[in-house]
Amino acid sequence: MSREEEKRLAGEAAAELVEAGMRVGLGTGSTVSYLLRALARRRPNAVYVASSPRTEHEARALGLATEKFENIDELDLAIDGADQISPEGWLVKGAGGAHTREKIIAAASRRFVVIVDSSKFVDVLHSPVPVELQSFGIKTTLRQLAPTELREGDTSPDGGLLADYLGPIGVYQELAQWLCATPGVVEHGLFPPSLVTEIVSGTGKTVVRTMTGGTR
Ligand code: A5P
Repeated sequence: MSREEEKRLAGEAAAELVEAGMRVGLGTGSTVSYLLRALARRRPNAVYVASSPRTEHEARALGLATEKFENIDELDLAIDGADQISPEGWLVKGAGGAHTREKIIAAASRRFVVIVDSSKFVDVLHSPVPVELQSFGIKTTLRQLAPTELREGDTSPDGGLLADYLGPIGVYQELAQWLCATPGVVEHGLFPPSLVTEIVSGTGKTVVRTMTGGTR
């Protein structure tokens, strides 16, 4: 079974979790695209918040109306992809550059469901870890985060500069704290297990659902 098929299975399974009246956060990426197509077929009459212009455009093109997140204080469910998942449930996100908004959405949601193909499971998280940076003082921020490479010409949905931390990862919590504590870092792409409620993965021809226990 190809990765695309596994993504499709995961996206379609997650679409079944959306019920009428729910306020639902939508992540960004190719797996989320399958979710959107499945939601467009089901039309469960939910309210959607998009994590990026890409997702907003895709949703609207499929006839799914999105709401501004400025007017909603809590979400019932958020569904998003990931770049890596560790055995402990840590995620690396942000290859698509939307991890700051994705983390805000995940933290605002009562349930955060991660949809992936089987290639996303790793024994140990590895770099790159995406970071969003303020442009003010970018050279000194990059020096403090070395080795970190700017993604030339790429910005986040909110205009932040995107870069990838390329150094050793070590203890995930310590790296997350160090990135958070470095002035100029808007947000990093490490998501702790406490944010994640469930992982829905396409694995071969089946869907595997793993409850991870991160509830709010
Ligand atoms: C977007 O910024 C990322 O966090 C995505 O969620 C991640 O890159 C997964 O994308 P795919 O579903 O395309 O693999």
